[in-house]
Amino acid sequence: MSFKDLRDWLEQIEAYGELKTVEGADWNMEISAISDLVAKNPADKRCLLFDSIPGYPKGYRVLTNILNSARRLALTLNQNPSPSDREFVETWRQRSKEIVPIKPKFVATGSVMENVHLGDDVNLWEFPTPLWHHLDGGRYIGTGSVTITRDPDEGWVNLGTYRVMIHDDKTLAFFVSPGKDGRIHRDKYFAQNKPCPVAISFGQDPLLLVTSIMPSPYGVSEYDYAGGIQGRPVEVIEGKVTGLPIPAHAEIVIEGESLPHEAKTEGPFGEWTGYYASHSRPEPLIRVKAVYHRNNPIITGATTAIMPNDFGHAYELMRAAQIWNEIEAAGVPDIQGVACHQHRFITVVSIKQRYPGHAKQAAMLAMQCHAGAYLGRYVIVVDEDIDPYNFDEVIWALATRVDPQRAIEIVKECWSGPLDPVIPVEEKGYNSRALILACKPYHWKDKFPPSIQYSIEIKEYVKRKFAGDVF
Ligand SMILES: Cc1cc2nc3c(=O)[nH]c(=O)nc-3n(C[C@H](O)[C@H](O)[C@H](O)COP(=O)(O)O)c2cc1C
Repeated sequence: MSFKDLRDWLEQIEAYGELKTVEGADWNMEISAISDLVAKNPADKRCLLFDSIPGYPKGYRVLTNILNSARRLALTLNQNPSPSDREFVETWRQRSKEIVPIKPKFVATGSVMENVHLGDDVNLWEFPTPLWHHLDGGRYIGTGSVTITRDPDEGWVNLGTYRVMIHDDKTLAFFVSPGKDGRIHRDKYFAQNKPCPVAISFGQDPLLLVTSIMPSPYGVSEYDYAGGIQGRPVEVIEGKVTGLPIPAHAEIVIEGESLPHEAKTEGPFGEWTGYYASHSRPEPLIRVKAVYHRNNPIITGATTAIMPNDFGHAYELMRAAQIWNEIEAAGVPDIQGVACHQHRFITVVSIKQRYPGHAKQAAMLAMQCHAGAYLGRYVIVVDEDIDPYNFDEVIWALATRVDPQRAIEIVKECWSGPLDPVIPVEEKGYNSRALILACKPYHWKDKFPPSIQYSIEIKEYVKRKFAGDVF
């Protein structure tokens, strides 16, 4: 199933009974607190649409908890819902290998052009931007947003989700971590002493959002990838100010430019790590020249609260599939599963060990492949009898198959960034990784004490025999 725009997606979600409209919540912490409480309730997978926000016209809305259900994630990716995390990762990783990118289609206009504000008419306070966390340095209109930039040398267009704070009615701050594609683009313009043209969509089809939060290979546009996933091109309009392609059916889009040597304090912001770790520091501005929006526009938001939160698990599933594909492509055989826990901090790879060094090879690659390299902490390799998606089993393997002096290795000076809470401010940029081989030591694995795990056969047998009584 593919969707024309966010409203088309919302109609479908409502039909499944997964949409809750909340009237009257304030932008000042109420929207975010409600969203987080719902996201932390495992029995409540609803997507929340906030309307009648005090101080704003009815119809000016904020959408949260967009992807906190594996079913909605699957629908967004144009695939059938999977019964378990393992099956989602397996299905998506296979499908993602087969996706043939489709270039976006330029159209003359679209619903985002229902309202056009240019120059002096631009007012970024027009929208009910939430204050997401109590110590945030400002109101962040961009959390579930899509930032669009073009490589000045190679010409390709990138989409990335990078937080966006309102400075004043015509100026924004955007924080892009070192090494991200949008940052490389901006750095290239600045190195040539040129303004960096930027467009940002603050409400859009969740498919664009999903592709924007995942790293595609450098040089591949997420527009093309999203087109491939939905099986038809994303419709875009050539932006009047920047010439960048902007989503024709987005809710709110701005165009502007970021100038070299111009910066202002950004942050702090409550980050996905659960801390305000990047504090506040001068970051480049965006001088907004144009705002386009639909009638009754919807901001798509993300609370970035402590896990479990509204986006984190979708992120973990997508990342796990991507790491699996990347380490497989690098030559690691017999991978049984890959799971991510606590966002990107913990990656677990399950393998059927075939040769001495196999586990170390899997660990090293999972640590440094494109999808796994940024701000990881632990890579844990387990045997095939351990379910990497079940953290209780992973902890059991850690407790019983790891002799720390032999099985833990530290790798220094890896790719981190300002968000890393455990790195002091003056050392931010790098971190270290622990590789933990929580699998039976290869050279005596066949003599390792047998496990007392109950076999699947006996479990199934007693379930059948005592069905309706115990089970
Ligand atoms: C809700 C959410 C917010 C994010 N905010 C930021 C951010 O402020 N800055 C940043 O560099 N990355 C942020 N990320 C991570 C990037 O979106 C992600 O790394 C993405 O792959 C970047 O795109 P790129 O690989 O094209 O640079 C965020 C991710 C999510 C899910």
